[in-house]
Amino acid sequence: MRVVQITDTHVKADAHDLAVIEWFGGVTLHDPADSLAFVLADIDALDVRPDLVVATGDLADRGHPAAYRKLNGMLNDLGLPVLAIPGNHDLIDNFDAHLPGGVVELGTMHETHGWTFAFARTGNTEWGELGAAQIARLDQQLAARANENVFVWMHHPPVNLMGPYGPEAPFLAEDIGLLHERHGVRGMAAGHVHGEHNVQLGDIPVHATPSTFMGAGGPGYRIFDFSGDSFSTTVRSWPERSTMTDEKRDTLVANIGERKRRQAAEPVERDLEARAQAHVLEWFEEAETRRGRPAAALWS
Ligand SMILES: [Fe+2]
Ligand SMILES: [Fe+2]
Repeated sequence: MRVVQITDTHVKADAHDLAVIEWFGGVTLHDPADSLAFVLADIDALDVRPDLVVATGDLADRGHPAAYRKLNGMLNDLGLPVLAIPGNHDLIDNFDAHLPGGVVELGTMHETHGWTFAFARTGNTEWGELGAAQIARLDQQLAARANENVFVWMHHPPVNLMGPYGPEAPFLAEDIGLLHERHGVRGMAAGHVHGEHNVQLGDIPVHATPSTFMGAGGPGYRIFDFSGDSFSTTVRSWPERSTMTDEKRDTLVANIGERKRRQAAEPVERDLEARAQAHVLEWFEEAETRRGRPAAALWS
């Protein structure tokens, strides 16, 4: 059974808009839909056709309904079944209302070929967590599962892969630890960091996957081949298609680095239920203010 993971597509409402990272960093990249179209064409041309696509969040750059509808159209053109979960850039109400349709469904629980896929929503903060209500739901679903092997899909990786710029917030690792204790998690896939990482959380392999939009290794995606009780995984990526030059990266790091350093120095509190969406809205507003555009233009 072959599963393709796409992540951090960051689709925008229209091609002339800028992504948050462009607003904030003062750089211009490319239309995320262009590199997504390239990636989808590569998936379509694979020798072994995937059984399923999993999309692991940051699917619309600023959560605009039109961006979800655009992404829905592109995925329906590919014609493979898609299970999708939101990331910190996604606005949940719009995601749930405007992304599903045709081949695209919201990821909840999926039983297939001896595996149980669990889908976690890790919220709108930079670090991610599950929250008590979701842990209870996943716990209940996994207890009733039909297949032995559990694989968890989610947006944030449960380990800090961003070095000094990654806030130290072990909540997600704790939350996954609880599920692992009770159900035995065999593997996990995430996005968010926009690059390829293959690490361990205790004895659980964790695979972070390149963004289809931008990241250290250019646009990319990941293939998982599940067989019996095991799986193998490989990344396809195109560094030569990156529109992030060294000069742009320096500007971006200078602008965003200041915010990230400030954030990394602040104590991080659990806040999934309390102020999760406020966190990302502040970030959108700060980005646009920095470029001198009124925050009200967020929804224009
Ligand atoms: Fe992202
Ligand atoms: Fe993210």
